[in-house]
Amino acid sequence: MMRSLARRDFLKASAALGASAAAGFACLEIATAAPIEIPTVDALTLRVLVDSAHDQFLKPSTVQGVVHQPPGGGRGSDYRKVLHNQWGLSLFAESQRRDETKTILLDFGYTPEALLNNIEILKLDPSKADALIVSHGHHDHYGGLIGFLDRYRASLPPDVKLFAGGEDNFCHRLVPSGTAGQFTDFGLLDRRELAARHITTVLCEAPTVIAGHAFTTGQIKRRSLERVLPNTFVERGFKDGAGCDAAHYSPAELEGKIIPDEHVHEHATCFNLRDRGLVVISSCGHVGIVNSVRQAQEVSGVEKIHAIVGGFHLGPAPKDYLTQVVAEIAKLKPDVVIPMHCSGLNFVLEAQAQMPENVLVPTTGSRLRFGA
Ligand SMILES: [Fe+2]
Ligand SMILES: [Fe+2]
Repeated sequence: MMRSLARRDFLKASAALGASAAAGFACLEIATAAPIEIPTVDALTLRVLVDSAHDQFLKPSTVQGVVHQPPGGGRGSDYRKVLHNQWGLSLFAESQRRDETKTILLDFGYTPEALLNNIEILKLDPSKADALIVSHGHHDHYGGLIGFLDRYRASLPPDVKLFAGGEDNFCHRLVPSGTAGQFTDFGLLDRRELAARHITTVLCEAPTVIAGHAFTTGQIKRRSLERVLPNTFVERGFKDGAGCDAAHYSPAELEGKIIPDEHVHEHATCFNLRDRGLVVISSCGHVGIVNSVRQAQEVSGVEKIHAIVGGFHLGPAPKDYLTQVVAEIAKLKPDVVIPMHCSGLNFVLEAQAQMPENVLVPTTGSRLRFGA
């Protein structure tokens, strides 16, 4: 269930919102905080649309019942076209319940060129997408979105929506330049561009059922030893009509200050796989992969973890911290851990050391089959 937020009401609720900033808010909904009923699916297929590398020599394998079909050469019908790889992540999810199939696109890579190229090479049909999800406000996860919509909006369902973790996903991000107090631009997701393409955004601070098959965790509590490792900085408020509503945050004086990014509205996407447990997909995992999984357990009431998938942002982790986090993951007893994107080679090695039977490393173009 969603409740639409009338433009008038949103303006009333947002003291800091200037009139020029309102354009993108005509297409906005807020997910209800009412408890959700967790859907169950019989099977799930994930395609890795965009990741950092393509290994054409990877062999098919099955790890704890998860079937991995790598892409081989990754070439199109024209041999001069091949899978593109870049810093970023995009996943194409197809889930089945009985004879019903649902399709969800989760994140969109860094550039539309890579995303569109790989959709073509992998022969996927995004026009079937029942929902779009953005995991958090980093360009390597939403950078391909507007170009994707320019190419596919007309063939997508007219009422398809973008599910975001919350207002923070639309804040302006910056990166320290190396000179004290100086930053370089890392962009923002401008919802006016979404509204112009007739995409309604749903802010999912609360757990939300997606397309009747998946659910998002909503805001993720910080309850493990994990901390947000240094990454971007964030600036609240609006500039030239784009940005995020600083009044949403407390204290409101944060507006105008550039502060370390805590990703307050990063969320994870999850499926409850019949007889196997949860598949938890953390796209960048800044808030901590253990925190994300525990949030999925809490909001679903499902303890069993079948798979932990995605970016865990442990590439920059100090060794002792990494060792502790992997030990915490092992305590969750997942059947399989599938690291992608920012998880880091250091994570893969540590996870293989602590959970040798439970690690599956995919590549751009991989097909992962969960369940029947
Ligand atoms: Fe990322
Ligand atoms: Fe990120």
